[in-house]
Amino acid sequence: MRATLPGRPVVIAHRGASGYLPEHTLVAKALAAGMGADYLEQDVVATRDGELIVFHDLVLDAMTDVATRFPGRQRADGCFYCIDFTLAEIRELTIGERRAAGSCSARFPGRFPDGAGRFAIPTFAEEMAFIRGLGDAMGRPLGLYPEVKDPAWHRRHGIDLGARVLEALADAGYDAADGRVFVQCFEAAELQRLRTDLGCRLPLVQLLDSAGGPPSAAALAGIASYAQGIGPSLRLICAGRGAGGPIATGLVADAHAAGLVVHPYTLRREELPAGCDSVDEVLDLVLGQLRADGLFTDFPDLVAGWVGRYIPG
Ligand code: G3P
Ligand code: CA
Repeated sequence: MRATLPGRPVVIAHRGASGYLPEHTLVAKALAAGMGADYLEQDVVATRDGELIVFHDLVLDAMTDVATRFPGRQRADGCFYCIDFTLAEIRELTIGERRAAGSCSARFPGRFPDGAGRFAIPTFAEEMAFIRGLGDAMGRPLGLYPEVKDPAWHRRHGIDLGARVLEALADAGYDAADGRVFVQCFEAAELQRLRTDLGCRLPLVQLLDSAGGPPSAAALAGIASYAQGIGPSLRLICAGRGAGGPIATGLVADAHAAGLVVHPYTLRREELPAGCDSVDEVLDLVLGQLRADGLFTDFPDLVAGWVGRYIPG
């Protein structure tokens, strides 16, 4: 299976329109849809009572008021773990703008101000129902892009997160390879297990961080044996600047040669990849020149606008 929209790269809202509203809130997902996103991302983690929530971190510290609402519930490392709280307790929390690690300062200064709204953490089931309703109301399909977050860690805590995510997707009617869902994970063993042991029929995307550099052709062929795509860090693609502007590694072409869709992450206007001086330079390189099949972004309006201008549907 290749790209769901051949020729036209897909816009993947990274944690929703998280450049404008607190990440993984339902309003951030609605804004992303209104801005033209094709897929809305969900990072999925588990609570103490085994419920699935849409939240990026294993710990609640950087995004919520957990320390004031539940003083004393941190572990010895000082962190408040999602998996130590029931869903009922999670529902008592307010989520806000991301703070820098170990700090009270905003991770991305200038984004939506903390304290300017009350937002809650959605469950995975609530979010899927919300997105289905939103797509129906807008008259266009909205795709899901769930990430199984740290499955080995969850397994050590008694939760088979990959299996639970597939069950939740199936319960919501998402179990066919019809282009409405990509399932992503950093852990290759988990993706292989989803494909072989759990019989997953959905397209799988192997996430790749920048450690170790771009994978070899042989490694990409190995990924293609169980996944339909890769989600590489932009750092694996943008290789610096030459006389003519940004220059790239051969990763996108190599992955396409292996039959893999390429959905790099994450375009943020505050943190451009090496060698790129503007958002449009990133888009011209990654989508225009290299023809990646989509892009994760905190700013779906910028990517949808570029696609509309240069690659009409
Ligand atoms: O899933 C793509 C991208 O979101 C991976 O990084 O840490 O933002 O989940 P992270
Ligand atoms: Ca993610």
